[in-house]
Amino acid sequence: MDFKVADLSLADFGRKEIRLAEHEMPGLMATRKEFAASQPLRGAKIMGSLHMTIQTAVLIETLVALGADVRWVSCNIFSTQDHAAAAVVVGPEGTVEEPKGVPVFAWKGETLEEYWWCTDQALQWPDGTGPNMILDDGGDATLLVHKGAEFEKAGGVVPTASEDDPEEWGIILDLLRRTVNDDRRWTKTAEAIKGVTEETTTGVHRLYEMFNNRQLLFPAINVNDSVTKSKFDNKYGCRHSVIDGLNRATDVLIGGKVAVVAGYGDVGKGCADALRGQGARVIVTEIDPICALQAAMDGFQVTTLEEVVGIADIFVTTTGNFSIITADHMAQMKHNAIVSNIGHFDNEIDMAGLARIPGIEKEEVKPQVHTWRFPDGKQIIVLAEGRLMNLGCATGHPSFVMSNSFTNQVIAQIELFTKTDDYPIGVYVLPKHLDEKVARLHLDALGVKLTVLSKKQAEYIGVDVEGPYKPDHYRY
Ligand code: NAI
Repeated sequence: MDFKVADLSLADFGRKEIRLAEHEMPGLMATRKEFAASQPLRGAKIMGSLHMTIQTAVLIETLVALGADVRWVSCNIFSTQDHAAAAVVVGPEGTVEEPKGVPVFAWKGETLEEYWWCTDQALQWPDGTGPNMILDDGGDATLLVHKGAEFEKAGGVVPTASEDDPEEWGIILDLLRRTVNDDRRWTKTAEAIKGVTEETTTGVHRLYEMFNNRQLLFPAINVNDSVTKSKFDNKYGCRHSVIDGLNRATDVLIGGKVAVVAGYGDVGKGCADALRGQGARVIVTEIDPICALQAAMDGFQVTTLEEVVGIADIFVTTTGNFSIITADHMAQMKHNAIVSNIGHFDNEIDMAGLARIPGIEKEEVKPQVHTWRFPDGKQIIVLAEGRLMNLGCATGHPSFVMSNSFTNQVIAQIELFTKTDDYPIGVYVLPKHLDEKVARLHLDALGVKLTVLSKKQAEYIGVDVEGPYKPDHYRY
């Protein structure tokens, strides 16, 4: 088996944590049971690009339990948990000497070159074919296949580096220059793919953009906008892991500090709530009047970053947008202000601009925690080099909330793989009855007792006793 992870001897520790996680992931475990006999993913060759954590290990082994042949990478250079990667490679039946699990190409602290090399490896099966399904988080695997096919269509012409991130874009183009060839590898890969299921807001945004520009080459299910994903993982997951990231990175007391949360979408709501829960005075920035009004009514001060940049102790960007905290902002911050991002990509904080400030000095406190000292002696603390701090500095979201997200992923993979003809090229969300099913699978574990509608009550509000209980336009 081909794979590349940091250290296979961590597999035993990984397996112990996977077993604990399985107990906390009732949705995934129920899905394994439900589909054990029918094996709906038999024949599926799934390439996954999603943070290689313990929770993801339970997702991978669920896909395998349903019949899939899987290859995996992390979707971020810092988010792999090396013991999880090792355990997945070894597999529940294998040993370090004779691994029998899933090929994983991921380790914590990849370079960008290594990151894209891993993605390329996971897109190639040993027999020279590619996947027939992608499970993506942020859209990097989908992007690589689309760019390769696009350049092959243009006669194999791969442009020289350009665009807004010259370093990373240059690496992608180098890879494509080596792999775009007469065999039309990427075109064939794209043609063989029945669909992609996308995990996060930023990846979904890319998919709709590609679809609207008529560039999307295969159908996609937007898992992010299942209610049981974005209203849980993005919100309650970040409510947990933003604090975990801050604590493990700095252990600074949050109570009494001024914290700025940029963006008050699902992630911002979770982060602001958590920071307030720790006793911070939380200030929100927003561009959307609806989200700004929500933040105000939730009791937060809402203002611009420029107004408060010099008084805040902790900054967390949650926008999925770029250039939120500029080098100029950072130059105005207090000594030892903590600067972090929990949105998908690292461009929310202008790290390149920070590095260009004349005389600035970067020092590593420990991996993923750096001080940047300005020529006047003042310094700021930047977490995870501006990449998502909850996965870079801590271990991401806990299992129970990821069970909701990943049960949606498994259902979406089954939908696209088994009902391919029902999904012409486009971007879809799962039907509401499946969303409700995911929630239902998680109630018992929390001791929730649902009230059952009477037939008359159901008729009165115009729904079926079995659900769905809300119209599609309902917002929760
Ligand atoms: P969202 O769209 O619900 O929220 C983003 C908010 O930022 C919006 O309300 C938007 O109006 C606001 N915004 C945009 N530009 C802004 C600016 N210049 N200043 C202030 N506010 C601005 O998106 P969601 O679901 O909250 O996700 C945000 C990001 O977090 C995405 O990149 C997503 O992929 C990522 N994400 C990260 C997770 C993690 O574990 N680290 C988990 C889930 C999502």
